[in-house]
Amino acid sequence: MTYTEKGAKRYTVTSALPYANGPVHIGHLAGVYVPADVYARYLRSAGEEVLFIGGSDEHGVPITIKARREGCTPQDIVDRYHAIIRDSFKEFGISFDVYSRTSSKEHHETAAAFFKKLYEEGKFVEKVSQQYYDEEAHQFLADRYITGTCPHCGNEHAYGDQCEACGTSLNATDLINPKSMLSGAKPVLKETKHWFLPLDKDEEWLRQWILERHRDDWKSNVYGQCKSWIDAGLQPRAVTRDLDWGVKVPVEGADGKVLYVWFDAPIGYISFTKQACGADWEKWWKSDDTKLVHFIGKDNIVFHCIIFPAMLKAEGSFILPANVPANEFLNLEGNKISTSRNWAVWLHEYLKDFPGKQDVLRYTLCSNAPETKDNDFTWKDFQLKNNSELVAILGNFVNRTLVLTHKFFEGRVPAANEDCWTATEREAVSELSGYPERIGRSIETYRFREALSELMNLARLGNKYLTETEPWKLVKTDMGRTAASLNLSLQICANLAILCEPFMPFTAEKLRRMLNLGVKGWREAGVATLMAEGAVINSPELLFEKIEDDAIDAQIQRLEQIKQQNELESWRPSAVKEEVAFDDFGKVDIRVGTVVECSKVPKADKLLQFKIDDGMGMRTIVSGIAKYYPDPQALVGKQVCFIANFAPRKLKGVESQGMILSAEDRDGRLVLLSPSQMVTPGCSVG
Ligand code: MF3
Ligand code: ZN
Repeated sequence: MTYTEKGAKRYTVTSALPYANGPVHIGHLAGVYVPADVYARYLRSAGEEVLFIGGSDEHGVPITIKARREGCTPQDIVDRYHAIIRDSFKEFGISFDVYSRTSSKEHHETAAAFFKKLYEEGKFVEKVSQQYYDEEAHQFLADRYITGTCPHCGNEHAYGDQCEACGTSLNATDLINPKSMLSGAKPVLKETKHWFLPLDKDEEWLRQWILERHRDDWKSNVYGQCKSWIDAGLQPRAVTRDLDWGVKVPVEGADGKVLYVWFDAPIGYISFTKQACGADWEKWWKSDDTKLVHFIGKDNIVFHCIIFPAMLKAEGSFILPANVPANEFLNLEGNKISTSRNWAVWLHEYLKDFPGKQDVLRYTLCSNAPETKDNDFTWKDFQLKNNSELVAILGNFVNRTLVLTHKFFEGRVPAANEDCWTATEREAVSELSGYPERIGRSIETYRFREALSELMNLARLGNKYLTETEPWKLVKTDMGRTAASLNLSLQICANLAILCEPFMPFTAEKLRRMLNLGVKGWREAGVATLMAEGAVINSPELLFEKIEDDAIDAQIQRLEQIKQQNELESWRPSAVKEEVAFDDFGKVDIRVGTVVECSKVPKADKLLQFKIDDGMGMRTIVSGIAKYYPDPQALVGKQVCFIANFAPRKLKGVESQGMILSAEDRDGRLVLLSPSQMVTPGCSVG
């Protein structure tokens, strides 16, 4: 029995299935997988029956687009990323009981059967609608497969579902000049039939179930999103698509149609349970004493709180989630994490740069998890948390205790000597006893940051106790109290080994081995009798090591480079200025001239001074392009275009009689404009 919950006999813990079209990054870990893993590990340690489910979401349009772009099949894409993602999770100790994939046969069967049951029981409504169709490729087009001009901002590269320039979400039919990404053809509207889940009919029970029953136990960010969806009025949702990648719609007359990815993916939680448990699977999904908890990110809330529950309810034999502890987003160094812009810390790359430091990242991400609002990951903060918390507090306490035990007691647990305890010991022991329950409660209520900071408080308690009792001084005068001090410190270390396991499983394992602790669970923690007198402990190894500035600087520099790269890639020509009359243009007198002399203007590092043959004589023009032409001499003999009828003005003491024309490239570099062939100096440009 957990501390807050009465009556749950087992826990089905799910974590959102990541799309298998890219590797996973710190945002995934912080938002979903670390909290889910902490929860599952804690429950197991507390002796609860847990099934922790994960897997790859391998359907959906973006996967087909990526495949097309790379000239391979969608199956190739998901095979590649499923393996990368699965391995990353494994390396970070995410303790799934099953990690499967939605392209598996079992999943296709389960998802199809689920649809079929709802279909046969008349739970869907059929609707015919008009959808864009590519007559050359003979295919209906998903919104993402259509590009065109955004009706709001004029961006010519908007997608059928969204304009990335102005952020507006669109319908494909909103686009001006729509174009198929498959053939480039102009798509035509064509009738197509789809099945819809009539969510409008679910409004009442959803309102009652979420907004009333879960008013107090669902997180306020989750509750708030649900409320605004429900208050806005729920609409029927199409659960099928015209696409050839996904779970085939298992009814007649549905050729070329698949289940909508958000219909099939959550059923993955069920099919993976079948894969893991065989015939015994139903207790995890159909038993009222099972507590179902979905760990997700905030963009998944509507699917897990409204649509999937509506599906489960329509099917009729499943339990509904008891809680959906969604997190907000983690940003990276002040900017939104983005796969397409490569603005991320990828788990497989982190492991190359910081081998063996999985727990440091788990710790940093958990202590900074975006539980109630978006949060920022910075490398400086990562370094600080490692050096001044993990090394200086937890690592330091454990190390001092073990080193002193080896020094004074030959590596054996000394006697507790309770008869020489003072108020200091009694207080420490009484404080110690409160930690398992306090940390457990925080975890059970999805306050993982709070739980982790309580864990660190226990390490602080240890440090404080050791510093106060000073066994390195006591040893000269009072062996009995020296023993008591190190015994109690070792007991705190043993408690830390148990209580840190959900957060930092690798560290827990190392600490357990150093202490020869054996397998003890959460229920056994909180006491000062975990380490038996006389038991042998192993030689101490450092739990954490300092992270130096150069390792952090290298990461910051890498991000800086990516930022510059992105700026170049996202460059677009500026909008064309407002129309002008020909006469207005005619007022500007543009000429070609030949550079006769060119030199830097003294004491003005930006300016070049030109002497130009303009066909009528010589004129001087000063131009701010010195940075881009470090060798002014090389310009002599070249021709340039300049405005001949600007009023003269003085720049750094030199009178400039006109303005030389240049183009500003996307990286900000100025390039002089010259005619493509030599012309007579003084001729007009027009
Ligand atoms: N693939 C989705 C995402 O990354 C999550 C799917 S969760 C599931 O946003 F429940 F549908 F599987
Ligand atoms: Zn736009």
